[in-house]
This record gives sequence, structure tokens and C-alpha cells, in this order.
Amino acid sequence: MSMDTGRGRLTHPLPNPPLEGAGVFPLSQGEGRGEGGVCSELSKVFYSDSGSTSVEIALKIAFQYWQNKGVKDKTRFLTFKNAYHGDTIGSVSLGGMELFHDIYRPLLFQTIQVNSPYCYRCHLGREYPSCKVACIKEVEDTLKKTHNEVAALVIEPLVQGAAGMLVQPTGFLKELRRLCDKYKILMIADEVATGFGRTGKMFACEHEGVVPDILCIAKGITGGYLPLAATLTTGEIHDAFLAEYKEFKTFFHGHTYTGNPLACAAAIANLELFEREETLKKMQPKISLIEEGLMKFHKLAHVGDIRQKGFMVGIELVKKKDTREPYPVELRMGHKVILEARKRGAILRPLGNVIVLMPPLSIKEVELKRLLKITYESVKVVTE
Ligand SMILES: Cc1ncc(COP(=O)(O)O)c(C=O)c1O
Repeated sequence: MSMDTGRGRLTHPLPNPPLEGAGVFPLSQGEGRGEGGVCSELSKVFYSDSGSTSVEIALKIAFQYWQNKGVKDKTRFLTFKNAYHGDTIGSVSLGGMELFHDIYRPLLFQTIQVNSPYCYRCHLGREYPSCKVACIKEVEDTLKKTHNEVAALVIEPLVQGAAGMLVQPTGFLKELRRLCDKYKILMIADEVATGFGRTGKMFACEHEGVVPDILCIAKGITGGYLPLAATLTTGEIHDAFLAEYKEFKTFFHGHTYTGNPLACAAAIANLELFEREETLKKMQPKISLIEEGLMKFHKLAHVGDIRQKGFMVGIELVKKKDTREPYPVELRMGHKVILEARKRGAILRPLGNVIVLMPPLSIKEVELKRLLKITYESVKVVTE
């Protein structure tokens, strides 16, 4: 297959025909792309077509894993406030955003929800780093009581994106991994947003040396050119689904476009570009440039918090900086700022009062500087 990316052509011969549910084989396909990092320990892959389906698959695998092993009570999920995992009913059930999710509550299965770290508005009223990541205690206290019924914990590692780029304090993810091991529950890392370089490493989990039991990936896998997603897991979990046919331990899940060959070819071509163009390496100075560029935003009268992890940025606007009082929803301040930015040549996205910057990984330094300048001016003009 071949596609014009504006950066030359993405080309790759078509792999096998669609798998129709039989899509369990190594992501690397002998091409070395699963080596190193998170993927090296997650050798089994189930393909699908969107971030939401990758999460649905993850939660069903986690659930059935324990059932297949005869541990019948582990049927629940530990989830986080402000979480976003997609728009299908299973992934919405795992979500914790009032705006997107609350109306559907009667349709959803219940999870055990704990607070997520939102350091700027810490629910414990503490400050990082002197808090020593005290919010982990609630997770442990909850797990102490419920671990026998919990199949898996589901987390957006390092950054809760849709909630407004809420960056977790260093060490939080690693602690979660420790707790999952201690209380024998699976860790599902939803890297649909953070995966494929977004945070400055291939996967966000790598920042803390964490390997989840199940990893959900989508979006960046094809560079956004074609719909493809994957749910990766360990050989140990995979093997719990092997048995005589009559035992019905099979994972009965399949989408028509599971392992779609066109999408897979786009993904392979995209991963080749990652390697050839040294995308991750070239991002590093640009990440520093964003960091430096954002510093002057602190001086703006209505910028309350600036959160950044790699190429994921959230600028939280507030009515009063000293009290951190938010702007009323009806003022639509974020929306006003992005309309101003549009006039100046940049299309941005607000999440409520948070201005989001998620530039393409291939952005040039000169474009990045322009993006930061436009964002700065737009925030200033609208809020001052
Ligand atoms: C963390 C996370 N999980 C899941 C999804 C859902 O992905 P999709 O829109 O491809 O279904 C998203 C989408 O933004 C996401 O950010």
C-alpha cells in the first residue's frame, strides 16, 4: 500500500487478509518493532479499530482471565475519577468524567472509583512534592478492602488527557504497579492518547519503568491515517485462554475489521517512519522548547496552572489566580480563546477552561514557536 503523507509516501506491502477475530500474534511480526520498552514483555496482540474497542477488549480479557483461572469473584474494576477511556458502554463505565459520562450511569456497570491526582486542585489539600504522593494511600486503602473482587485497575498512565491534561506526580504510576502486584490484580494501561511518542517516550509507562499486564493502543499507531487499535498482553494471560475446545475458554470477541490489512500496513509504515526519522530523538529539543515557551504564560493574570508532559500540554485558565476560582462554565473562556487563536492562524481545542496543545510530532521548531506565540496572545487578549 502507499499513501501520500505530505512528507513523502508511506509505503508498505499489504500483510495478511483480515483476521476476523483471530488477531492474536506478535505486534512486531518479525520486524523488530516490539523489541525493547513496554512491548517486549507484551508479546500477544489483539487488533481492533479504535481506542474504545481496545479498551473494551482489555476489560473483557481481564474479566475472563480470572474466570478461566477459576477465580470467580474477581469481576470488578478499579477506576479513577476524571478518567476517559472511550465512548462505548464498557469504556464509558470505566470513565469518571461527569460531563461525558454521568447521563449514561443507569446504562453502565459500576466500578470502584478512587480519586485521581489533580495536583493543582488536590482533593487532599496537599502540595507536590512535599505531599510525597499521598493520594496513593486512597488506592491502597481501597484495594486492601476490595482486592478479592477486583479483576483489574485501569489507568491512563501519566496524563489524564480528556480531563484537561492532568499530569500525575512522578512515582504515582510505579506505586500503582507495586499495588497491583501486591494485591494480585491486573494493570490495564490505556495509552490510546499517550502512546507513540506523545509524552516524549514511545509509551508513557516507560517513564516509570512500568510494564502493565494489558496495554491499549490506537490513535498514533498509524499516525492517524487509518483506524487501527491493539490490545497487548502477556504470554501468561494469553495462556489462560488455551484449553480443549469443549472447555470454552476462548476469547469470543471479534470485529469485522480486526487486523485490517490496509490499516496494519499503514501502522508498519508509520513505525518505519518513527525509526527512520528518529522521531523520538528529534522531539526532545522541541519538548524543551515547549517547556521554555510556556514559562512566560505563568505571568498572565488568568493562567492558573500549566501542565506538560512531552507534547501534551494543558493551560488552565482561572477567574482568580490567588484563590484558583474557576471561570463559570457559561463564560466559555476556553472556547473564546480558541476562536481568537483561529483568527491568528492556529486551530486549538479547549477542554472547558483548559487550552490544549497537542502538536503533531513532526512539527518544526519555527512552527512550534508560532503556535506558542499565538496561544499566548490569544489567552492574553481574551482574559485581560
Ligand atoms: C485515553 C483514551 N482512551 C480511549 C480513547 C478512545 O479512543 P477512540 O476515540 O479511538 O475510540 C481516547 C480518545 O481520545 C483516549 O484519549
